[in-house]
Formats: sequence, structure tokens, C-alpha cells
Amino acid sequence: MTDDASRIRGPELIVKKTRAVNRRTLLAVAGGGIIAAALGDRLWPLIRESRAQTGGGSVNIAVDIGRLGANNSGKPGFGTLGDYIFLSPTKLGGGAHAQDLATGKTLAWIEYWNYGDACPIAHHLAAYPSADPRKGFEFVNSTQGGDNILIYGLPTDIKAHGMLDPVWGQGNHLYRVHYDGQQMNLIEDVAETTGVGLGVHTTIYPDGTGFASADGQKDIAAFFDRPPLPQLRKDDVALGEINKGQKTKVLMAFGAEWIGRNPGGSMEANWFNGGKLRITRLTKARETGLYDLRGSKGNKIDWEMVPMGEYLVYTGQLPGSSPRTLCGLDAVVHHPGNRYSALVIRMCSSAVIIDRQAWEPVCALHGPEGSPGNLAVKKVSSNPDTWEIEYPDIKCVGHEAGFSPDGKFFTMMNNIRQNNMPVYDTSDADPRNWKKITFVKDAAWVGDYPSPFHLCFSMDRTKMFVSVLSPKPAKSSVVVVDTATWKIIKKFENVGPDLQTMAVTYDGKYVLQIFSGFQRLESGVFVFTQDTLEPVGFLPNFGGHHDCVVVPTRTEHLLNSRSTTL
Ligand code: CU
Ligand code: CU
Repeated sequence: MTDDASRIRGPELIVKKTRAVNRRTLLAVAGGGIIAAALGDRLWPLIRESRAQTGGGSVNIAVDIGRLGANNSGKPGFGTLGDYIFLSPTKLGGGAHAQDLATGKTLAWIEYWNYGDACPIAHHLAAYPSADPRKGFEFVNSTQGGDNILIYGLPTDIKAHGMLDPVWGQGNHLYRVHYDGQQMNLIEDVAETTGVGLGVHTTIYPDGTGFASADGQKDIAAFFDRPPLPQLRKDDVALGEINKGQKTKVLMAFGAEWIGRNPGGSMEANWFNGGKLRITRLTKARETGLYDLRGSKGNKIDWEMVPMGEYLVYTGQLPGSSPRTLCGLDAVVHHPGNRYSALVIRMCSSAVIIDRQAWEPVCALHGPEGSPGNLAVKKVSSNPDTWEIEYPDIKCVGHEAGFSPDGKFFTMMNNIRQNNMPVYDTSDADPRNWKKITFVKDAAWVGDYPSPFHLCFSMDRTKMFVSVLSPKPAKSSVVVVDTATWKIIKKFENVGPDLQTMAVTYDGKYVLQIFSGFQRLESGVFVFTQDTLEPVGFLPNFGGHHDCVVVPTRTEHLLNSRSTTL
């Protein structure tokens, strides 16, 4: 263990308390959904103490969320938030839920177990633009399954009952869902029709012509087209019968693999001493026209890396068939120019930039402070197409990322060993000239928690919103960053457990910050104003959400939607 690693408080505590590390204790360790959460009661005092020592922050105003609602003002009235449909996946609830912000009603909902999915952990989603979402809109919702259901501390017999196998209980479904003006209809499982099963982030292209998805257990990212909606018939027809129309096609798929410089060394040395990332173009079987990557096929680790779960991998605590080759490719975000996309590589805190015209990697942004910001890609084979990127070292892992709506900036979270957000100038037409220019930091972001998590931008582009995660039972916060100075100008603290993604209303008025309670805790939506940064209150929201989106009504809304940011 290096000096750095010994400074990590939470997981170190777990290791000490866990005498024999076997599968059962591992599940218990991961059981909180965030690594420290299972031992949250013991950990939180340590974190609070460290916060007190650092003064808890810089020049900002903390808002006492607990006081909202004390005089009835903490309940935003429906109708005041604009004419929008707010869509969220219910994670362990197994479906998706569309709320009509104008009327307060649930517009429609869907639960995937109804269609024969034995373990639908509705994970991330993104919606295509629709001029009138009340008449119809389409979205893509990834699911996890398999052993992922076992990491939340549920005393469940689901595995013993045989529900996690075969392929329909293993997750990694990509559900295309259409709301037809009356009800939601499952129109396609893209994993079934293409053979590519992915369970994590989904992002629509900035022109709305398709979507990308990825999976950090498999290290695979794929780019899909958007076929026309099938001629829909209703519930009494089997799914395979309903969708007789054209189905989704894979435009391109890439696999990634980490090759540490010292393959015989410790797990930590495997990443932190550097090595190379290998990107390979994946091809489908000639005979079937399908990829062979459904369900758990291709998993290198047995369940996903929860936030900060990279620690479990590099300390050998997350089992699987090939954790040493894991790079954690769990997301794709798109540059607003609609040509370049970034593959998020968690174990390297890096983003591999893909040219979607040539379908080739161009360069890799590398996030850690003190590391070179832009690394070269070298093509090493054409059979199959293979590229390599050399990493002199890796100073920390990273995660959620995004481009500003004007395409001028990119940021990604540096986590655990470093806890900050590198900001890149991405205004040059050539990504090889994109430069790391500064870091968003906070005096409270020390150690592994609290840590910057998800991000999005205000419609007027003057602000970036960042959810900041603390392990349960603590409540997380959301902070506002000025995009001229990249300094934090406001904090809303103590909002709720597990703050996930944010969505902005496209009229520039409100920010909707979902908090999940996906571990059966409280859940809801915290609302604040985009311009004056005033807390407005909480919206009820059933289920344990992990993501959310306001359904775009114009294509250009995608620049502020689940397309450019996670
Ligand atoms: Cu997630
Ligand atoms: Cu992720």
C-alpha cells in the first residue's frame, strides 16, 4: 500500500473490521450502495470531523434545507415549474415514471418485470426530443440485474430462487420505451435485437438521431441508431409481435482493456504504476448479425463499481473473471458539435475521445492533477482495429463527466486519491489540442468523501451544478460553480441521501436535483432557481431514482440534457 492509499479513511476502516474477506463479507462491505455506506454509522463521525477541521468550505453560502417548508413555502406548487414532463428511472423499483410538472399527475409509468425481466434495476435513461411530450415521446432506459441486486444489503432470496439467470435476469437490457399519449409501451429491448447488453449510462446524440451506452463491468461502449417508431398495437400482443418494424442497429461498438505495466505486481500497482489502455473495434457475428454480449456475457467484475467502488477493485475486493484488465468504461458523453464523443474510463480518470465520423479514437484526456492532460492514441493493429494509449502513471480514479452546452469546456470527476474536477478548454476544432486549464476544488473535498459526483449546466451557461456525495446516513449536497472563474459560489447542503443527476428546465428557470433513496430511504426532487439560486422546495417523487431528465421539446435542448452530461 502506498502512502496515498493509507490515507483513505473509509475503506481502510472496512478492511480492518473485516477479518476474513469472503464473498459474504464482500457483499456486506458493498452493501450500502456506496462503499462506505454499509458502515456509515461508524464512518460518518470521521468524515464530519474531517470536515470540521477543514472548515467545511470556502467563500460560499450554505443553505439550511431543513428550514424549507417550515412555513408552507417549501412546497413548489405544480404549475409553477413550467410545462414539462420530468422522467426518472425507479432503480430498484424496476421501471420508469413520468411526472407532469404542470398538472402534478403521473403522466404514465412502466415496470419492466411485467415483460418477463426477472431483475430489472432501472438504471439510467435519456429522452429524445418531442415537440409535445403529452402526445408522445421516446426514451431509452438501461437496466442492471444479476448480482447487482445483492450489493444493497437486501436480505433477499432472489438469487436462491433462480431469478438472476438466465439472460432475462442478468440485466444489461436497453429498453426503448414510447409514451403514445395514453400509456407507455415497451417497443424494443435493444440488447435483444442487437446482442449488445449494456447496463449503465445512456446518452442521446446532440442531433437526436440515436444514442450511446456503456457498461463498466464489461468495458464496452456502443453507438446505436434510432429506427422509426414501429406501428404500435397494444398490451394484448406479445412484445416480439408488436415491434415488427425496423429495429435498432449498432453503428459502432468498442471494447477497452487495461494492461498494467507490472502485470505480476499488486492490484494497486496494476493501475497506479501506469500501463496502457487498449481500445478494440468490436464486430458482430457474420452468420447471425448479432454481437454476443447480452446479459452477464463479457462481465469482468461480478457487480458494478458503486460510486468510489474503484477502491474495491484496486484493493482486490471486487471479484470477477478479470478485474486486472478492468478500465471501468461506463459512460459516453457527446460534444455539442455532434462529431466527438468521450468514453469515460473510471480506473484511469480519463476520457477517450471518439470521432463519430471516422469511428476512431483521436486522443485521451487524462484528469488527475499533475498528469499530462492529453495523451496520444496509437493504432497498433488493423485485424481487428486496435489502438493503444500509454499512461505514464495514474494518480487517481475518476467518474462522471460532461461538456458545457457551448462545447467550450469538458470536465470529469477526479475521485478518492484526488477529489476535484479538472476543467478542459475544448474550444479547439481538433481534440488533440484540448487542454486542461484549471480544477474546481473545495476545501471540504478531502479524502474520499464528500466527493463531486454528477454535473449539469444552466441554460444561460453561466453556471455548472454539481451534486456532492456523502455516504448514507448523511445527506448529500449540491453546489453551484461559476463557469467564468470555476469557483464554487453557492452550496445547498444536507439536501437528501444519494443526490444523483440534475435536470434543468429548458426555460432557464429551475434546477431539479433528484435524490434517490434507492436504498429504501427518503427520495424526492430538490428544486432551486437557475438564475438567483434560491431554494424553492421539494417535489414528491416515488422510487429510488438514479437519474432523471426533463423531456426535451426541441433538439437544441439536448445540449442541456442527458446527452452532453451525466
Ligand atoms: Cu449509476
Ligand atoms: Cu457512471
